[in-house]
Amino acid sequence: MLEIKEVTKTYNSKGISYPVLKGVTATIPDGSFVAVMGPSGSGKTTLLNCLSGFITADSGKVLLDGQDILTGNETALAEIRQHKLGFVFQDFMLLNGLTIQENIFLPQIIAGKSQKKMEKNTDNLLSMFHIEDIAKKYPPEVSGGQKQRASIARALSNNPSIILADEPTGNLDTKSSAAVIGAFLDAKEKIGATIFMVTHDAFAASYADKVIALRDGIVFGELLRRGQPKEFLDELLDFTRKVNGEEYDA
Ligand SMILES: Nc1ncnc2c1ncn2[C@@H]1O[C@H](COP(=O)(O)OP(=O)(O)O)[C@@H](O)[C@H]1O
Ligand SMILES: [Mg+2]
Repeated sequence: MLEIKEVTKTYNSKGISYPVLKGVTATIPDGSFVAVMGPSGSGKTTLLNCLSGFITADSGKVLLDGQDILTGNETALAEIRQHKLGFVFQDFMLLNGLTIQENIFLPQIIAGKSQKKMEKNTDNLLSMFHIEDIAKKYPPEVSGGQKQRASIARALSNNPSIILADEPTGNLDTKSSAAVIGAFLDAKEKIGATIFMVTHDAFAASYADKVIALRDGIVFGELLRRGQPKEFLDELLDFTRKVNGEEYDA
């Protein structure tokens, strides 16, 4: 379980301070798919970067499986990032000079996995995400949806406790977005992965179990999905209007 408690972050630039996170609290249960929504500039990426350790939060706590991941020595934190977190980015961040298969190998090589284990694990991931046929291709030779599914496979390759994804469908067309969401659902259902996805896309969020909305630096509200994504999407679109302060729109 990931517990975010009263996390704050203020950027300082040219003597002016910009408070972006003003005490964000949220819980991401194991095996759940949670989406964070909010208007552009609401601090979604900042929150994700505080969780991943890319930037340092000013205050608050983040507990992963009960372990504090904000404070501690650099070595311990690097260890947590390597073994417990998986990352998926909007622009994939695959290495173009390596094949899709080699890209998925990479974090496993860094983790010191044996060749045999790594190959078996990678084969499983390639087939789970329906990208076996592009294993030997290079990223520039495959579609955006395929690249993103490869990056999800890579993120899962060391069995992280949680996957952190920033706008994973942001650069994709509708069909590729659906394939990426399908990959997250497969990861959740087949291997019990926990997914924390930042998105401004209500369609992508409608597949999540829980949607957390950020506004003005705090959690404006949370919605749990009860029915099918289709019904939830309507609810989310209404909710998004409220979050954006457009509740009086017809
Ligand atoms: N390194 C930075 N220095 C100063 N301001 C920043 C920095 N990064 C982001 N911001 C500002 O913080 C706010 C939140 O940004 P961000 O977390 O990227 O929002 P989102 O991902 O929701 O669009 C924005 O107003 C942005 O301009
Ligand atoms: Mg962002």
